[in-house]
Amino acid sequence: MVAFSLPQNSKVDTGKAWPKPEGGSLREFRIYRWSPDDHQNPRIDTYHVDMKSCGPMVLDALIKIKNEQDATLTFRRSCREGICGSCAMNIDGTNTLACLKSIDDVKGPVKIYPLPHMPVVKDLVPDLTRFYAQHRSIEPWLKTSTPTPQAEWKQSRPDRAKLDGLYECILCACCSTSCPSYWWNGDRYLGPAVLLQAYRWLIDSRDEGTGERLDNLEDPFRLYRCHTIMNCAKACPKHLNPAKAIAEIKKMMVERRL
Ligand code: SF4
Ligand code: SF4
Ligand code: FES
Repeated sequence: MVAFSLPQNSKVDTGKAWPKPEGGSLREFRIYRWSPDDHQNPRIDTYHVDMKSCGPMVLDALIKIKNEQDATLTFRRSCREGICGSCAMNIDGTNTLACLKSIDDVKGPVKIYPLPHMPVVKDLVPDLTRFYAQHRSIEPWLKTSTPTPQAEWKQSRPDRAKLDGLYECILCACCSTSCPSYWWNGDRYLGPAVLLQAYRWLIDSRDEGTGERLDNLEDPFRLYRCHTIMNCAKACPKHLNPAKAIAEIKKMMVERRL
């Protein structure tokens, strides 16, 4: 059985309400749970956390719940400072990073789901196999044909500045999993995160594979399913604009035909 994160789930059961801990400053967390091992429907479990003994971010609460109440609760995290991208999830209806999302910014119960429209491995962990394969397909490395210089591939300051707004991407997938085109055509459309990465290599002054990179994207689905809905730019926790990068790639496609 494979569970999909909302909204494809036809049925999500009301789950367990875990006993409230002691404390006068409790916040409620409603968390998506699903395991491939128990043949049950996905469910929403309810936990309470005393904010007097919890850090300020949603990731702090998840770690506290796992440590003190329910060791089976499963989620990814590593850096806890918005660098690794592994704690991406849907919190209060928005894709974001749990380590950067302040609990105080959520009114009422904090509702936490895995990134939407992805197969679920367990609980809050989405299966990103396809996403990573798509990233690999754009060959995210420097491609050169001239002999390698002895010291380094040099780049002027203005050329380096062209990578600003692109190199900061942490591949968290918040944008791609908020994109309706990616929801419906994710098997063929590369989606905003991977296309932003593609553009990052297309405009790198040191790269000599521009022609073949554009050939690789010239396809009715891989690039052209973006309809400028802009969910991606709204979702990005690093304040990047994948839609703009996609528009720039389309412009490069037109210009090379002139
Ligand atoms: S602008 Fe394009 S990539 Fe971004 S959410 Fe909309 S359709 Fe998806
Ligand atoms: S563009 Fe933003 S939302 Fe998309 S993968 Fe990169 S950091 Fe995450
Ligand atoms: S734990 Fe690394 S981005 Fe949140």
